Amino acid sequence: MQVVQSVADVRRIHLELGGSWGLVPTMGYLHAGHVSLVERARAENDHVAASIFVNPTQFGPNEDLAAYPRDLARDLSLLEAAGTDLVWTPPVEEVYPAGFQTYVTVEEVTKPLEGAARPTHFRGVATVVAKLFNVFQPDRAYFGQKDAQQVVVLRQMARDLDFPLEIVVCPIRREADGLALSSRNTYLTPEQRAAAPVLFRALCAAQEAWLAGEHDGEGLRRVMRDVLAREPLARPDYVSAANPQTLVELGDARRGVLLSMAVRIGKARLIDNLLLAQEA
Ligand code: PAJ
Repeated sequence: MQVVQSVADVRRIHLELGGSWGLVPTMGYLHAGHVSLVERARAENDHVAASIFVNPTQFGPNEDLAAYPRDLARDLSLLEAAGTDLVWTPPVEEVYPAGFQTYVTVEEVTKPLEGAARPTHFRGVATVVAKLFNVFQPDRAYFGQKDAQQVVVLRQMARDLDFPLEIVVCPIRREADGLALSSRNTYLTPEQRAAAPVLFRALCAAQEAWLAGEHDGEGLRRVMRDVLAREPLARPDYVSAANPQTLVELGDARRGVLLSMAVRIGKARLIDNLLLAQEA
């Protein structure tokens, strides 16, 4: 496994090795969710590349950029064990040199949900991922359903800007009690950690209601809010039952729905989602 910092080194190794490439973009502090993306990429491509970059442009002024957890040595050993060929760990100046002034703005699908709470977040995500696509020129790029809106935004960007690659979406990896794996789970105290599975319980309650015939979007949101309200440590930011493509809140959820939420527990802001689709 080669670990490099410069754009030039990534391009050189890509040319030297040839073949098809799968790319797994990350911000590090890797867990089994990230590793599952690498394993999928390993199975579908000749070579696997990963990036580890805590991207400053996707953090708001009052967010956790400085506190974001980091452990490069551990990340590299996990990536190596999962069969990664190339890792890019650029310093901030390599990605955003002095004088940088070009950003990618995806319009409608960045407005609701995470975008409403974090107004500059997706501009930062789209910009850095566009750069990653240009630097690595992968055949496939791997993302987790954990960040459901991120997937919608990046698919839109790839389509609108004609990036010649396939975006592959991988399922959410969870702890045994349902908590979705996240680097930010490390912010939870033991008491808060015990409360955190309430997100998945709320999603499952809405899924059960939907399967039992509750197809009203507001009814589904109410089911989720009621479950969250019974956990005193959970402070919901938003609770959504939206169209999976447009992310607009649904009245009629009969044909499928993306259930999603952001909930604050202590210092952590946790997100989770469940995609319900009518069998074709
Ligand atoms: P990061 O939060 O490090 O996540 C990297 C990738 O891992 C994302 O595609 C995310 O959806 C996926 N992932 C996270 N938790 C997961 C889980 N429990 N199960 C499955 N996949 C999971 O997302 C980002 O970084 C950044 O926004 C990035 C795309 C790298 C751009 O900076």
